[in-house]
Amino acid sequence: MDDDQANTRFPMPRAADRPFDPAPELTRRAAEDPVSRVELWDGETPWLVTRHEDVRTVLADPRVSVDATLPGFPHTNAVSKARDTTMKTLMQMDAPEHTTHRRVLAPEFTLGKMEALRPRIQRIVDDLIDRMLDGPKPVDLVTAFALPVPSQVICELLGVPYADRGFFHDVARTLVMDEADPGRAMAASEELNAYLERLVTGKNAEPGEDLLSTLAVERYRTGEMTAREIATLGQLLLVAGHDTTAAMIALGTAVLLANPDQLALLRDARMAAAGVETPLSDSRSSSRQVIVGWSGAVRHAVA
Ligand code: HEM
Repeated sequence: MDDDQANTRFPMPRAADRPFDPAPELTRRAAEDPVSRVELWDGETPWLVTRHEDVRTVLADPRVSVDATLPGFPHTNAVSKARDTTMKTLMQMDAPEHTTHRRVLAPEFTLGKMEALRPRIQRIVDDLIDRMLDGPKPVDLVTAFALPVPSQVICELLGVPYADRGFFHDVARTLVMDEADPGRAMAASEELNAYLERLVTGKNAEPGEDLLSTLAVERYRTGEMTAREIATLGQLLLVAGHDTTAAMIALGTAVLLANPDQLALLRDARMAAAGVETPLSDSRSSSRQVIVGWSGAVRHAVA
């Protein structure tokens, strides 16, 4: 691949000596060419929107759709095409369908419920840090900390046995890996859905104090949702909830270690909340296809 092709192809390559920075071509386009074409793996040529204000405009426009089953939707790789066209979750729904499904989850993610989790999350974090300090050095931050924190939290929140983490870590990795084989990824996803479905029916018989139990009792038992629908929602939360956060902890740490001045600012407690927002705000969209700059969110213009 020559330089021109590499710069047009999306996703764009990152600089070998700055692997945690956005791809240089993405930064260049944000400065010089904020709404421009890219080429995808399947030859599609959607628009790429790179400036924050443009991204906000696109994402807020009701003429732009997230429905991945629409012909011409810009799929960024073969796995995401297979996944997003066969398993419709909240993330592939537009309003009003999106609004209905979101209402199912909203009561489970209130500020009060999240605040109630704080002491438990603090204990998980403290235990993992103690274990790292007591154990052999150097330590792999990803396996010792970045991955276990969100995995344990999301497992407890959903009511998924943490002992089964090896299984769903493997499924999650296959589902978000660009280069994975679509057939293998879909088989793994199906296995995870079947596993979660069994959990839902088990929790209907014997509910606990967790999100899947609440959905089993309030939605499955009442006939409002099937066990498969709850399992699909569970899969979204399990996958979206741990890999993203694990990457954010690991990359955030690497970026702070590479930028001691930023680390010093963060150590000032008053700056801590703003510091967490910054890595989170980085977000990435043919005439009707849009990839939103930095995070890779994809949309399709429907009007
Ligand atoms: C630092 C960690 C995280 C990052 C960077 C992140 C990133 C994102 C992004 C960019 C989207 C929008 C995708 C789009 O519109 O195309 C999204 C949506 C979503 N995320 Fe996360 N996420 C994180 C953590 C979590 C966690 C912990 C959970 C669950 C407990 C979660 C559940 C969801 C759900 C359910 C949606 C869909 C929301 C909707 O369509 O209404 N995410 N996330």
